[in-house]
Amino acid sequence: MSNPCSCSIIGTGSYMPKRVVTNNDLEKLVDTSDEWITSRTGIKERRIAAVDETTSDMASEAARRAMTSAGIRPEDLDLIIVATVTPDMFFPSTACFVQKKIGAINAVGFDISAACSGFLFALQTARHFINGGSRKTALVIGAEKLSSLINWEDRNTCILFGDGAGAIIVRFDDSTDAPGKVLSSVMGSDGNLAHLLSVPGGASAQPITFDNVLSRTNTIHMEGRETFKHAVTRMCQASEEALMQAGLKTTDVDLVIPHQANRRIISVIAERLGIPEERTFINLDKYGNTSAATIPVALDEASRSGRLKRGDILLLVAFGGGFTWASSVIAW
Ligand code: ACO
Repeated sequence: MSNPCSCSIIGTGSYMPKRVVTNNDLEKLVDTSDEWITSRTGIKERRIAAVDETTSDMASEAARRAMTSAGIRPEDLDLIIVATVTPDMFFPSTACFVQKKIGAINAVGFDISAACSGFLFALQTARHFINGGSRKTALVIGAEKLSSLINWEDRNTCILFGDGAGAIIVRFDDSTDAPGKVLSSVMGSDGNLAHLLSVPGGASAQPITFDNVLSRTNTIHMEGRETFKHAVTRMCQASEEALMQAGLKTTDVDLVIPHQANRRIISVIAERLGIPEERTFINLDKYGNTSAATIPVALDEASRSGRLKRGDILLLVAFGGGFTWASSVIAW
């Protein structure tokens, strides 16, 4: 019989592209200001990938760092899941490119699309494979080149997003006190609200034409205020459910690692859950919203900076296009 708590995080890694684009740089492109962006979002700068740097390049580098931190070899992996909405190509999957680049000859790889919730959807998928006993060692990645979907003339969206990749290694371990244990997983979606946050053009609904490239339908479209409201409601609900599933309360949480979209969203969630803001991890000032990459990058930074102690209770929670939402509780 499968054990619901046999999946543990044994390593983390991240990679951010070198080029820094500050709010002051964006003032030169659109009618905005550092003051507006900082006060409305908390973002100060973001990283933008080189033109020839692909999502799978960033994902592979994050994966190598995660494997080093876990002390495993590429041949040890039997599953690769990449969460992304900016794949290298429609197909093959980005996971297949990562498999080739890192030499994970014994793994099976596929992608998951759940926008900013993608990494937690991928973690929960890997958890089911591992708890069920069919896979032992998985590489779970959130990686995005959102700069490829940005309309640099739209001040409503171009200030929000950035590029980057984060990765974790999860492994079967059914001992009760294994570090990094994934205690619970909650996920949800509501396709009725798909129109509030999407990239309408460029795929099969509106294949690329000269006209829709000119009208920028192949870039991110978002109703910011509506997205904000739903994000707060769903992230609070998902957090409460994930904690309940783990048999824990908000007072047990040592650190919340939320999706990094907007500092105000994180503050409201912390207040509603009754968790002091000092117990939330924030790095969106440096990277903006990197969609599926925000949580694994934040987890890696929290781990490497010494912010996480063995046994700490971590609450991961995300919200994104779809709409989609997800949450997991980890005993570090
Ligand atoms: N600079 C200056 N002014 C701006 C800018 C800008 N960059 N962008 C918008 N404005 C203006 C608007 O035009 C508007 O002007 P008006 O009142 O004259 O019409 C005014 O500022 C206020 O605009 P709002 O959209 O109401 O601003 P708001 O306070 O809601 O902040 C924001 C906008 C930052 C986008 C916020 O709504 C937000 O963070 N939403 C949630 C985003 C999110 O969580 N996404 C998650 C998932 S992302 C994914 O899945 C890929």
